[in-house]
Amino acid sequence: MIFRQMFDSVSSTFSYLLASRRGGEALIIDPVIEKVDRYLQLVKELDLKLVKAVDTHMHADHVTGLGALRDRTQCITVMGEQSKVDVVSMRVAEGDKLQIDGLALDAIYTPGHTDDSYSFLMEDRVFTGDTLLIRGTGRTDFQNGDARAQYDSIFNKLLKLPEPTFVYPAHDYKGDTVSTIGEERAFNPRLQVKSLDEYVELMNNLHLPNPKMMDVAIPSNMRIGLAQDEVARTGLALSAEDAMRLVGREDVKFVDLRERTERAKQGSIPGAIHVAYTDLHESIGVGGVLRQLANSTRLVFYCAYGERSAMAVQAAHKAGLPAAVHLQGGIAAWAQAHGPLE
Ligand SMILES: [Fe+2]
Repeated sequence: MIFRQMFDSVSSTFSYLLASRRGGEALIIDPVIEKVDRYLQLVKELDLKLVKAVDTHMHADHVTGLGALRDRTQCITVMGEQSKVDVVSMRVAEGDKLQIDGLALDAIYTPGHTDDSYSFLMEDRVFTGDTLLIRGTGRTDFQNGDARAQYDSIFNKLLKLPEPTFVYPAHDYKGDTVSTIGEERAFNPRLQVKSLDEYVELMNNLHLPNPKMMDVAIPSNMRIGLAQDEVARTGLALSAEDAMRLVGREDVKFVDLRERTERAKQGSIPGAIHVAYTDLHESIGVGGVLRQLANSTRLVFYCAYGERSAMAVQAAHKAGLPAAVHLQGGIAAWAQAHGPLE
C-alpha cells in the first residue's frame, strides 16, 4: 500500500494520499488548496491516477483543494450526505464504503465538530478529521457543532475500535503526527470525563477565538461545485424534464456513471446501461463500448448530482463523440422532477 501523510504548515492540516499500488488509483483526504501542485507532483512521481478527493467535513480554517483537484484531474469529489456545500460528485453516509482500485474505507458518521463530520476506517487506521485529534478533540462551538453529538461519536463509535488502531487526524498544532485509539482513550485530557454532561460542560467553556481563515474559508468551501451552468451554455446539458421525454426511445441510451452502491441506494433510470465514471476513458476510447453505441444512439450521461456526467460529456466530445449530452443535476434533479426510477 502507498500511504503519504502531508502537512500544510499555515493551517496545520494533514492530508493523506492513499493507493493500493504504484500505477494504481489513488484517493486524497482533506487536501488544502495551496498544496494542490505538490499533491499532483507526488501523484505523478508515484505513477498514480487520482480518482477521488474527499473532505472529512466542511473546513473553516483552510480552503479545500477538492474543486481544484477535480478541475485539474477530473477526479470525483466526495463528502458526507449532510454537507451543505453546493455540489460534490458523490456523497457518503454511515456504513458506506469509499472505494478505489484495491482499497475500501468504511465511512463512519461522527458528527459533533460539525454536523457533516465523517471518519474513514481503513484496516489498521482511522482518519478522524477534526472529531478526534491527538490529545484533543475538534471544537464544537460553530458550524452546527454539538458537544453531545461529539461525545457520542467519540465514545460510542471511535473508542469502540480496537485499541491498536492508528489515529490520523486532520490537524495537529503541537507536532504530533499519529496516535492510537488506546493511547487517546488513556491520555487524551478531553476524554478523561466521567459523563456526557461533564464533556459538554468542558467543551462549552473553551472560549476559543474563531479560526483566522474562517470568513474566507467557509464561503469558499460552500461553493466548490463544478460550474455546470457553463457546460449547459455549450448545449451539452438536458434538464430532468427534457431527459424524461427520452426514456424508452430506441435511439437514446442513458449511461449511468455512478458506483454500484449508489445505484442500489438511489435507483436508476429504466433501461440505463452502467459504465462507472472511473472506466469512462476506456469506454469512449477506440473499441470502447460507448464509442460503439454512439454510432447509432444518442448518449445521455448521468450521475448523482451532475458533476461526473458534466465532466464525462466534455471528455466524450473531446474524444469525438459529439452526440453525447448529460443530465444536469443528476439523479437528485431527476428524482425531484419525479422521473421514473427502477
Ligand atoms: Fe474542522
